[in-house]
Amino acid sequence: MIRPILKMGTPSLMEPSAALPKKLFGSAELQQLLADMKETMISASGAGLAAPQIGENVRVVMFELKNNVRYPDEESIPFTILINPKLTPLDDEVEDGWEGCLSVPGMRGVVPRATKLRYTGFDEHGGKIDRTVSGFHARVVQHECDHLDGVLYPMRMTDMSQFGFTEILFPELAGKDDD
Ligand code: NI
Repeated sequence: MIRPILKMGTPSLMEPSAALPKKLFGSAELQQLLADMKETMISASGAGLAAPQIGENVRVVMFELKNNVRYPDEESIPFTILINPKLTPLDDEVEDGWEGCLSVPGMRGVVPRATKLRYTGFDEHGGKIDRTVSGFHARVVQHECDHLDGVLYPMRMTDMSQFGFTEILFPELAGKDDD
């Protein structure tokens, strides 16, 4: 089921989410949540979605990048379900890059993020995930996992002159992310 995506200003988006309890791995309840998240993410052409964005404050995110109309120039990211994640930047290198968010529709902003990142966590069956990534993949993971701590990307920005409407900043993307 496509669920409504909560927008910035909704108090629960700013609250930290709880770890998914062990007993829910492999459960029908989790499968339903994941199915709703995936349908909602795809219908909105998102590169990722965090459970709190559909009003479920548990530490579950998913992401995928493949021929995405909202991010046409970025390299692809395999579809990943990441539960109870732990993020570790590999060094001090930070890079600026443009981000958008389905909870901040119609806007884009430049956000500094760790360039190289190791992330660990679990898939929906409790299987371990352990990856080392960089570039846009690293950026998407940091963005999605921030949602689990109640952080939206504008709260990470250091130069608010680099925040604006997609239709002005990227006219070629106009209409792709304003719903
Ligand atoms: Ni987001």
